[in-house]
Amino acid sequence: MTHFHFHENELYCEETPVAEIAAEFGTPLYLYSRRQLVDNFRSIDGAFAGVDHTTCYALKANSNHELLRILAAEGAGADAVSAGEIHLALKAGFSPSKITFAGVGKQDAEIEYALRHDIFAFNVESTEELAVIDAIAGRMGKKARIALRVNPDIDASTHPYISTGLKTNKFGIDISVAADVFRYAHSLPHLHVEGIHTHIGSQILKLDPFEQTARKVVDLVSGLRAAGIDIRHIDFGGGYGVTYKNAIRHPLLPMEDATAADEAPMNGEFIAAVLPILKTAGCSIVIEPGRSIIANTGILVTKVLFRKDNGVKKFVIVDAGMNDLIRPSLYQAYHQIVPLTLKQGDPERVDVVGPVCETGDFFARERAIPSVQRGDMLAILTAGAYGFSFTSHYNARPALAEVLVNGDKVRVIRERERIEDLM
Ligand code: LLP
Repeated sequence: MTHFHFHENELYCEETPVAEIAAEFGTPLYLYSRRQLVDNFRSIDGAFAGVDHTTCYALKANSNHELLRILAAEGAGADAVSAGEIHLALKAGFSPSKITFAGVGKQDAEIEYALRHDIFAFNVESTEELAVIDAIAGRMGKKARIALRVNPDIDASTHPYISTGLKTNKFGIDISVAADVFRYAHSLPHLHVEGIHTHIGSQILKLDPFEQTARKVVDLVSGLRAAGIDIRHIDFGGGYGVTYKNAIRHPLLPMEDATAADEAPMNGEFIAAVLPILKTAGCSIVIEPGRSIIANTGILVTKVLFRKDNGVKKFVIVDAGMNDLIRPSLYQAYHQIVPLTLKQGDPERVDVVGPVCETGDFFARERAIPSVQRGDMLAILTAGAYGFSFTSHYNARPALAEVLVNGDKVRVIRERERIEDLM
C-alpha cells in the first residue's frame, strides 16, 4: 500500500493526513488515492510488454465516475456486466471498441443496448444466449461480435462464492463441449465469432490455476483453427488476488497472522506468468482485472461510536456497517484495521462491529488492534474493490461519501446522501 503510509504516527494518503480529511468530510467515508490507481493500472497494463492487448477494467469492483474517468484517460477498456455498467463506461469516456459485456443472464433490452453502442464483444455464457443474440442482431440489421466463455473446470482455490471456473459453477460453457458450441455459433448468420473468454474466479493468489487455464485455452484455439474457426482474441478474465493482511506494517501495529499463502504476487506477475503460454496462440489478449486495480486504492474511514465489554467479549462499535462494506460479513473476508493516529500501548483483542441490526454486521472478530476509545478514527484498509459498489441502504442508512486524494489535494467524488434523499 505504497500511497497509504504512516508519517510520525499519522496515517497519510499520499501527502494528506487522513484525519484531516475525515474531520472535513465526516465519516463513514471512502477515500481513494489517485496515484495508487494510476500506478496499479500501469503496472498491470505494462506487463504486456509489446503484446497486442487491452486491459478492460471490471467495473463491478468500483464504478465511481471520477475513478472511471482516470482509467479511461489511461487507455483502459471496460468489462461490463449490465447495460448500466456499459452506460457508466460510455459516460466516463471508455471507447465502445474496448467494452466487453459478460454475464450469465443478459436481458434482451441489454443486448439491444450493447448492439446499439457497437461494443467490442459479448462474452457469451450459454448456447441459448447465442441464439438470442443472433436473433436480436438479425432484427436490428447488425452482426454481433462474440467470444464464448469457456468453463475450464479448474480449481482456483478461492472462496466458494467467488470461484467461477468449476463445472459445478453456473458460468461459461463446459470446455469438453466447447468445440461443438463454437461450431454452432459459427453457423449463426448474425454473429462474428471472435474470441474465447475465461474467468476462473476472484482473489486468486496462486499462479498455477491461471497457467493451467492458459494451456487449456491455447489447446482449444489450435483445435478450433484446425476445424476452420479462426479465433482472434483470448479474453483471459480477471481474478488476480491482492494482499489484505499486513497491508501496512508499523512497529505500533500488531503483526497480523499471515502465511505465505495470504501474500499475492506483485501486480503484473500474473500476466508475466501466463503471457508466454498465451502468446503461442498468436491472438490479441484481453484481461479484465477489477480488484488488482482498485482494491488497495481505497480505504473506508470510520469513527468509534462506543465500546462495550460484556465480560466475554470486547466490542468496538463503529459508524460504518455491513451495508457500507459487506465483504467481511459475506465472505468472512479479512481487512486490516488501523487507527488514523497511532499511540504507544498494548493491543486489545476486540470485535469491530457496525450499527446494523444483524449479528453478521462485523468488520473483524477477535482481532488484536491498538486500543481505541469513543471518537477515535479507524481505517479499514484495501477497501476500494467491492466496497462502495456493493453498498446498500439496509436499515435506511444513506450512501456514504467518496473522496479522491491527489497529492495534497482532496475532492469529493460522490456526495454523501442525506436522510432526506432516502426513498
Ligand atoms: N471478469 C468477470 C467475468 C468477472 O465475473 C469478474 C468478477 C471480473 C472480471 C473481475 O474480477 P477481479 O479481478 O476483481 O477478481 N464481490 C467479491 C468478488 C466478486 C467477483 C465477481 N466477478 C469480493 O468482494 O471478493
